[in-house]
Amino acid sequence: MSLFARKSIDELRADAFSEGEHALKRSLTASNLVLLGIGAIIGAGIFVLTGTAAARNAGPAVMISFIIAGLGCLFAGLCYAEFAAMIPIAGSAYTYSYATLGEFIAWIIGWDLILEYLFGAATVAVGWSGYFTEFMREIGLNLPEAWTQAPINVQGTHTLVRNPGAIINLPAMILIMLMTCLLVIGIQESAKFNNFIVYVKVAIVLLVIGFGFQYVDAANWSPFIPPNTGEFGEFGWSGIVRAAAVVFFAYIGFDAVSTAAQEAKNPQRDLPIGMLGSLAICTVLYILMALVMTGMVHYTQLNVPHPVFVALEKAGEPLAWLRYFVNIGAIAGLASVVLVMLMGQPRIFYSMSRDGLLPPVFSKVHPKYRTPYVTTILTGAVAAIVAGIFPIGLLGELVSIGTLLAFVIVCAGTWYLRVKEPNRERPFKTPLVPLVPILGILTCGFMMYFLPLDTWLRLIVWMLIGVVIYFAYGRSHSVLQRTGHQVFEAEPSRPNFTHEDDHKS
Ligand code: ALA
Repeated sequence: MSLFARKSIDELRADAFSEGEHALKRSLTASNLVLLGIGAIIGAGIFVLTGTAAARNAGPAVMISFIIAGLGCLFAGLCYAEFAAMIPIAGSAYTYSYATLGEFIAWIIGWDLILEYLFGAATVAVGWSGYFTEFMREIGLNLPEAWTQAPINVQGTHTLVRNPGAIINLPAMILIMLMTCLLVIGIQESAKFNNFIVYVKVAIVLLVIGFGFQYVDAANWSPFIPPNTGEFGEFGWSGIVRAAAVVFFAYIGFDAVSTAAQEAKNPQRDLPIGMLGSLAICTVLYILMALVMTGMVHYTQLNVPHPVFVALEKAGEPLAWLRYFVNIGAIAGLASVVLVMLMGQPRIFYSMSRDGLLPPVFSKVHPKYRTPYVTTILTGAVAAIVAGIFPIGLLGELVSIGTLLAFVIVCAGTWYLRVKEPNRERPFKTPLVPLVPILGILTCGFMMYFLPLDTWLRLIVWMLIGVVIYFAYGRSHSVLQRTGHQVFEAEPSRPNFTHEDDHKS
């Protein structure tokens, strides 16, 4: 069979809608899905990277960057929605590609999604560490700087340098280890708890916007687009687009809704609502938040691990109470994003392993907890090391470029399938095909183009490693290649992590 062997959409759908013993419980409504999306979206992007992007790339014009990144996500989200409604399977983009573009591309996207989930978890953990350290300081506990900072730093836009005095970012590592332990045991937090954290996060963002607006000094918005420094990507229009690629990170997560496909009551109608609804709400919040933050404090002061806090500090005593809420909200909110991402990664490994593209140990399920403990521990260990030594800016860019690549492939896949199988039933149709997929490819591709060369090199090295693994292992072990059939999930070893836990964090 070829590199482009495809899974059958009809068989995938039949499996997804089967009522068998291993069918997932369909309990999520449209509003649950919107909340799930918001829960996965609001995190380090808005609480941390907005400051970094404003200070290093765009100044107050970071608000325009949010609009550009939001548009890219809208186009990609519309394409995702078509796939998610058509193939409502938990494997998300990996499965969509397996069914449309063939095994090799599916492997590429699965490998690429490691950047989104595993590295994403590490990035958000670093963001969490910034707020946690600040919170400790506020209550009188000064954690030693050497143990709360990454030993590697980025100078300018790309040069890696040793961060003098810093040993390791211990809080970020500890958070990941704790979350990993929870995931191995099979945390069964209630959906109510998830919703509660989402409400807290949204409430805090709204409070910052509402109260912050009263302390905006319009002088901080001038010049709205600081002139380019002479270096590509440092202010001016090239800076705005580069900042868009950085703050794109803030939108990542709406696609996580598609992984709850098999738990949605009415996936064909509600997945598009969940993805596009959460995206729309967050876009509005982000644009306003960016305006407020850069209006409260001069953008040059925002290159810190806890920029929202710094902006509020500028307002002085009247908003001191809000600073505490922001810290507590960020600590709880970012931790929940880390948890969701650390949960998503083993699920993707699990799917790839069940398809034979990764060794069987990756789909090993704990006999007692029924969780994919081997991959969970592996994911946690790697993520903890990454979070301990790299700075947030570098990680965020890598996660952004990886996710942008996945979005480009999903847009291309939507268009391709429309041409190849025009008559297939599509419960949700992306409007204006091929215009929307093309705009998605262009906008996401454009943001990728504006990311630093070093980030590109890291992506290329990462993907090459993936290609080598595929040819060394996956191709010869692929179940589809060997048997001509895809694996189905109706096996006793299927873990329950895909049923309960994922959307309840
Ligand atoms: N969008 C998520 C965040 O900003 C990944 O933390």
